[in-house]
Amino acid sequence: MPISIEISFSKSVKVSGGLVVAMGSLAAPVSAAAKTADPAGQLDKAVKIAGFTGKSFSTVDVFAPVDAPADRIALVGTGDPEKLSSHEWMRVGGKIFSLIGKASKVTVLLGDAGVPSTEATADMALGLMMRSYSFDTYKTRKGEDDDNGSRKVSVVFQHDEASDCKKAFAVRQAISEGVELARNLVNEPANVLGPVEFADRAKELESLGVDVEILTEKDMKKLKMEALLGVSLGSPRPPRMAIMRWQGAKPKDKPVAFIGKGVVFDTGGVSIKPAAGMEDMKGDMGGAAAVIGLMHVLAARKAKVNAVGIIGLVENAIDGAAQRPGDIVRSMSGQTIEVINTDAEGRLVLCDALTYCQERFKPAIMINLATLTGAIIVALGPHHAGLFSNDDELSRALTKAGEVTEERVWRMPLGSDYDKMIDSKFADMKNTGGRHAGAITAAQFLKRFVKDTPWAHLDIAGTAMGSPSTDINQSWASGFGVRLLDELVRANYES
Ligand code: BES
Ligand code: MN
Ligand code: ZN
Repeated sequence: MPISIEISFSKSVKVSGGLVVAMGSLAAPVSAAAKTADPAGQLDKAVKIAGFTGKSFSTVDVFAPVDAPADRIALVGTGDPEKLSSHEWMRVGGKIFSLIGKASKVTVLLGDAGVPSTEATADMALGLMMRSYSFDTYKTRKGEDDDNGSRKVSVVFQHDEASDCKKAFAVRQAISEGVELARNLVNEPANVLGPVEFADRAKELESLGVDVEILTEKDMKKLKMEALLGVSLGSPRPPRMAIMRWQGAKPKDKPVAFIGKGVVFDTGGVSIKPAAGMEDMKGDMGGAAAVIGLMHVLAARKAKVNAVGIIGLVENAIDGAAQRPGDIVRSMSGQTIEVINTDAEGRLVLCDALTYCQERFKPAIMINLATLTGAIIVALGPHHAGLFSNDDELSRALTKAGEVTEERVWRMPLGSDYDKMIDSKFADMKNTGGRHAGAITAAQFLKRFVKDTPWAHLDIAGTAMGSPSTDINQSWASGFGVRLLDELVRANYES
């Protein structure tokens, strides 16, 4: 049952009914604030019986003690609250969400002495928002006690510096929206979300002041994007490319550019995929979803940066017009590609988007995101995205942003030995390099389309979807990349 959360911050609250959540720490499992909601002093006993020690991320749910002003009181452990990172506060927020149950009103009583800080409090609210996400657009049978299929829950954080909390949360609100947008796009099935519909979603960013252009098949033919167009041949649904521009800095400042793989569904084409698990390929636009989500965040929080988002939108389907193994296509860069395997389609889409991006925008840096290979899942599982780059500084900045947001990346090698693996007998290169080092040869392929621009490729096949539930995400789609790149921009590229 979807729950829509209304967040607010208040200096003083008078609890009457609903759920009260208080923080507990190792030093004081029942905080002073919790005691104010427990006039009869019964929490100490309840906490002892439950074995709650205030350890971080532990919770205890207590029915309201006699005479308490609330219906229920719950505690969330913060361990040593001075030591929690921003992401850990988000996880505490996720834990608060998990305690809501049937409550429609939640009061969060925070500690005293300035802990948590206003930033940490806003982080908690963001974590709570992210945890509250669920995708149930297509569930017509809702919970039995649920009349309209969704309900509102108001959450008030009691904090002495409520107005600073509110300011700090405004930025997180933008992040929360961007992540939600990316998750929605990945969860949405491909019959609903084709290339044209996807491009329409990009167009909606105009309401935030983003400039959006959509290239049609005709436009892309003129630009000679034959690699991208080849992927689309087997689908009755025409391809699109969306170009989103946010100008938050001086007009002359070089933009940072983000490019996303937007394969709305990947059947594999003539080199068709096995049936088992193929439904997951509705998520093969996770890179494009992250780019739209990121552009939303940058615009909504009015980031002081010039940013370009470019997404290549196609369906890799199969019919009599589909491209075949052995076909040779000429990319926009002029380089020719022998298509060995039509299922290695993501790189064919990205290579033309990368060329277009460099020629038109001459960006300061260029980062592409793609659910590109099964091989990166074998290598790193769902816990790191693969990072490939021609630039050590950019790699370090991305790794740092990954540590801060816990959207982690792990750098993988590139090199001429791997590059040779994609030389072709008949064309400049082939689109697969054989069984070994599949994630790396895919990256080498992309690198052949990058000139002098500092560039990074993030292979998010393992992290964008189907990763294990966490304190801040319970949905199939994670929205991976949105927070990572927002943090990268904030820490390195804003004036
Ligand atoms: N979209 C897939 C990669 C993928 C696999 C993403 C599983 C998410 C989960 C990509 O287009 C693909 O099919 N890659 C092939 C490349 C191979 C044919 C060289 C792969 O990884 O098997
Ligand atoms: Mn494929
Ligand atoms: Zn694919």
